[in-house]
Amino acid sequence: MTQILQADADGIARAAALLRDGRLVAFPTETVYGLGGDAANERAVAAIFEAKGRPNFNPLIVHVASPEAAQALVTWSDAAERVAAAFWPGPLTLVLPARADAPVSHLARAGLGTLAVRMPAAPVARALLDAFGGPVAAPSANRSGQISPTCAAHVTDGLGGRIDAVLDGGACPVGVESTILGLTGLPTLLRPGGITEEALEACLGRRLVERRDTEAVSAPGQLHSHYAPRARVRLNAADWDEGEARLGFGAVECDLNLSESGDMTEAAANLFAFLHRLDGSGAEVIAVSPIPHVGLGVAINDRLNRAAAER
Ligand code: TXA
Ligand code: MG
Repeated sequence: MTQILQADADGIARAAALLRDGRLVAFPTETVYGLGGDAANERAVAAIFEAKGRPNFNPLIVHVASPEAAQALVTWSDAAERVAAAFWPGPLTLVLPARADAPVSHLARAGLGTLAVRMPAAPVARALLDAFGGPVAAPSANRSGQISPTCAAHVTDGLGGRIDAVLDGGACPVGVESTILGLTGLPTLLRPGGITEEALEACLGRRLVERRDTEAVSAPGQLHSHYAPRARVRLNAADWDEGEARLGFGAVECDLNLSESGDMTEAAANLFAFLHRLDGSGAEVIAVSPIPHVGLGVAINDRLNRAAAER
């Protein structure tokens, strides 16, 4: 049985108590719902992999309540200080060298010497992290390879019965996962996301290194058919074929429009929810309008390309 907890003081206290007990609680962040477990507790972390059906080599993001809490886990740097000052709390994850004594399960790190840390902005996430008082490991709260959840119902659709509770804080405003910035060497974009590459480059005063797809890096993009709906996905659809579920962008006739006005922020917030809905319609193909490759459009296209990848 998966309990649905309201995101009020009682629900948050209950969720924190479950985490202390080594249980799994899905909670809302500004990006997507995370499947949280006590990052220091190997069994809780193992249960996350188990519930998601996720391959064990994929390391997890550790969520913290403050930059100071992050500094207890990783070796901080000037670059980390700069981007954290500019974008935390918010949809930015930093990969840094793990401290030897960091109280984080090895399974969560997938055996790597680095750790991904993030301070989320959503008030419910922050209240939960404060109430729990330690780092929380949380991948997106979906079965491995499926679409990321942006509301509590998406979580129960995929993980109902497999996790202890969902803290229901409504819809996630950003709608795509955090940007992952590697800071173990030259600043490297490991995954595009809620903070744009341009904004990071402006903050750091230098270009980011792009992770090349041929490199063996443990970022989510490795798995080609990530974020996959059941339906086949057809990208850059200039017009629609008979029987397709039509996911539009801009001034087009369609079933669901990511943003009629062409607003990338609105489109990102709608992306996963609309893929879920069109997938649920039973159509064999979801056709998607072209999305301009600018700003958040880079992250949106990244997710769409994965959804459309051969599998
Ligand atoms: O917005 C988000 O980031 C959401 C919410 C819940 O915070 N979380 C999320 O987690 O997207 P997840 O587990 O679905 O994606 C995290 C990705 C993993 O696929 C992993 O490859 C990468 O972060 N990652 C984690 N630790 C890493 C590390 N040490 N080095 C490189 N990549 C890492
Ligand atoms: Mg995910």
